[in-house]
Amino acid sequence: MDEEVDWDREADNWVRWARTAGHDAYWQYRGAFFEVIVPAPGRRTVEVGCGEGRVARDLQERGHLVVAVDRSLKLLGYAKAADREGTYVQANGSRLPMSDASCDLVVAYNTLMDVADLPGTVAEVARILEPRGRFCVCVTHPLNDAGKFVGTEPGAVFEIAGSYFGRRRFEGTFERDGLSMTFRGWSSPLEEYVVAFERAGLLVEMIREPVPVATTGRYTAWHRIPMFLHARLIKP
Ligand SMILES: C[S@@+](CC[C@H](N)C(=O)[O-])C[C@H]1O[C@@H](n2cnc3c(N)ncnc32)[C@H](O)[C@@H]1O
Repeated sequence: MDEEVDWDREADNWVRWARTAGHDAYWQYRGAFFEVIVPAPGRRTVEVGCGEGRVARDLQERGHLVVAVDRSLKLLGYAKAADREGTYVQANGSRLPMSDASCDLVVAYNTLMDVADLPGTVAEVARILEPRGRFCVCVTHPLNDAGKFVGTEPGAVFEIAGSYFGRRRFEGTFERDGLSMTFRGWSSPLEEYVVAFERAGLLVEMIREPVPVATTGRYTAWHRIPMFLHARLIKP
């Protein structure tokens, strides 16, 4: 089994990155996720890998009764401080502290590429979902994961220098507007995610390749290559 990424280490940087208005790509893509992928609130929504809590807070604003889970105690502290009434629980996504069929919706927003045990985490999600429950996912698009733009102009070439195939370790430090964040996790081809869904008995209901809201500046090129993949799975 791979070793988990220690998110406590990057927690302060992540909070600055995630909470600085308009800084992170989340603000460009969350509309597509909440409006297209996430169903109307039901009895209970579990977020796996909530981090500092922005997705859980957005779900609550839309009427969801949320239980949010993360491995990082430090990030859970930030989440709880921003939302005193919210329910935040420390757990590994591959060992969720919920009983079988205890919720009708699970959300994993930019989490599946960060967990050491992808099949185990997806199997746990399937276990806690009730029949006809949904699993809503955002991951770095596997094409984006496989390559990079060679330049900053809108028409820059997108190059895959290595291989698209195989699950591989990812580590990258990004610096922008005085903020710095090191992301560590795994890059996976599409098949890796889909096999995990298949083995957990989940069926694909929707796949979307959203484009950013902004059509100018540094997001222009992301209208040519997808940054994220959105999916909704159903437990039959
Ligand atoms: C990129 S952050 C996303 C946070 C949040 N979903 C958001 O979009 O703002 C990934 C999160 O996954 C959590 N994580 C990584 N591995 C995990 C695991 N095995 N179990 C639970 N959470 C995990 C990290 O602690 C981190 O908070």
